[in-house]
Amino acid sequence: MRYLPRLMVWCGILCVTFMTTAEAQTTDIKLPKPALTGNKPLEAAILHKKSSRNFTGSTLSLANVSQLLWSANGNLPADAVTSATTKVFPSAGGLNALEAFLVAGQNTVEGVPAGVYRYNPADNTLRQIVPGDQRNLLAHAALSQVWIARAPAIIVIAAVFERMTGKYGGRGMQYVFMEAGAANQNVYLQAESLGLKAASVGAFQDNQVAAVLKLPAGMVPLLLLPVGN
Ligand SMILES: Cc1cc2nc3c(=O)[nH]c(=O)nc-3n(C[C@H](O)[C@H](O)[C@H](O)COP(=O)(O)O)c2cc1C
Repeated sequence: MRYLPRLMVWCGILCVTFMTTAEAQTTDIKLPKPALTGNKPLEAAILHKKSSRNFTGSTLSLANVSQLLWSANGNLPADAVTSATTKVFPSAGGLNALEAFLVAGQNTVEGVPAGVYRYNPADNTLRQIVPGDQRNLLAHAALSQVWIARAPAIIVIAAVFERMTGKYGGRGMQYVFMEAGAANQNVYLQAESLGLKAASVGAFQDNQVAAVLKLPAGMVPLLLLPVGN
């Protein structure tokens, strides 16, 4: 009988461990190929660009998530002659300082278990970094802007400044922010073109967002982009 409390603690630990393991997504998720043509003229997307924060809560399709991530940090098809790959936005020296992450809730993105994912633009896949729904923690880190947690997904743009400052010194900092601005606008226009909502969020505690996403050392979050229907 005196072992009962200790037994209960061990059961609790095992239970939590099992639940965490069960939620973990161990294989990369292959995204559908992004479409390279659309139905809306660019001018119409620019004309109607706006920040929208009132999400309906309906599930985002994997095709739309793929399209949004591609617009945020995708690669363009390799040059037929040189085989060089460029990004969907201009990047100083072609150095590409940005990384994109997807934060998905429970059943909010088709075929994607709740969690934080790193987007790999080279093979169009998502790799889980953190299991479970992290949207509330992210909203809390963003000075408690609670509407963020109601978005089915949040795209996070992060940067490795060293990639740019290693070549351009202090001026490289500006170049990284310019890249992030271009990625931001791409997501807005892509969302508008797909009939989806998006909004920029720059007001957050860097260290808290980095902790929620388990960002590696040297990677800094620059922008949250809640997206959805
Ligand atoms: C760098 C940056 C940071 C922003 N941060 C926030 C934010 O933390 N919360 C928010 O609700 N909107 C944020 N916004 C969105 C702006 O408030 C919005 O773009 C502005 O009010 C103009 O509205 P519109 O985009 O609908 O034209 C941010 C925009 C930018 C470009």
